[in-house]
Amino acid sequence: MSVHDVAARTYGTSSDAYERGRPSYPPDAVTCVVDALSIGASSVVVDLAAGTGKLTRLLVPTGARVVAVEPVEAMRTTLLATVPGIDVVAGAAEALPFATGSLDALVVAQAFHWFSVRPALAEAARVVRPGGGLALLWNQRDESVPWVAELYRLMRWRDRPVPSYEDVDWPVVVGEVEAFSPLEQRAFANDHEVDADALVDRVLSTSHIGVLPSEDQAALAERVRQLVAGFPQRFPFPHRTEVFWCHRR
Ligand SMILES: C[S@@+](CC[C@H](N)C(=O)[O-])C[C@H]1O[C@@H](n2cnc3c(N)ncnc32)[C@H](O)[C@@H]1O
Repeated sequence: MSVHDVAARTYGTSSDAYERGRPSYPPDAVTCVVDALSIGASSVVVDLAAGTGKLTRLLVPTGARVVAVEPVEAMRTTLLATVPGIDVVAGAAEALPFATGSLDALVVAQAFHWFSVRPALAEAARVVRPGGGLALLWNQRDESVPWVAELYRLMRWRDRPVPSYEDVDWPVVVGEVEAFSPLEQRAFANDHEVDADALVDRVLSTSHIGVLPSEDQAALAERVRQLVAGFPQRFPFPHRTEVFWCHRR
């Protein structure tokens, strides 16, 4: 399976922190995906790179047959604990364990930047049936808020040695795939309510932080706690959820 080494290491050791610290997706973003991809009770939907199931659990109420695909065992274990009874399989985006044209919808949240992008798009085009759909989602922090900008400075975000959503022009790259219609896009406000512990979990479950020596992680956690020391016990961590979708021609 082709999983980036940093992803395998961090998500393999911090799945519980990931579950506690990462934001979910707002209801109107989920409705956008469900409507755009015509997901209903008769649909077969795969949540690829499902992680701990943050998006998976929001698709279950549609009544669709939802299958979660996740390559990292620790993430699958947390997923099964958070979404009991979910159908979860080990697999990677570049070689999906599904027959050609067998899916009505493929959704990928906070993950496509980890894939070998072009092979994964070709694989998506193989497994989604003509008329079916592909949706990509990302939660983006709002760095116009000064403490959020300072948090990402402390995390040395701009020096990180790992791929990121921001590295790829998604409409252009998906637009090169003849099998898919042009990518459409909407954005939704997503204030993630956290306390200091959840914020630390969020930071420590970030891929390039999760591979740091434990003493460096502890020092960063302390600086994060100092950053929000004067805040109310619970406070909003402002995000925007970006939703992209297209259809299989
Ligand atoms: C930031 S997490 C997103 C998890 C979840 N979708 C969410 O919204 O919280 C990224 C996930 O991508 C998975 N991943 C990384 N490389 C992958 C690949 N090549 N194929 C499938 N999943 C991959 C990781 O194991 C991890 O669970």
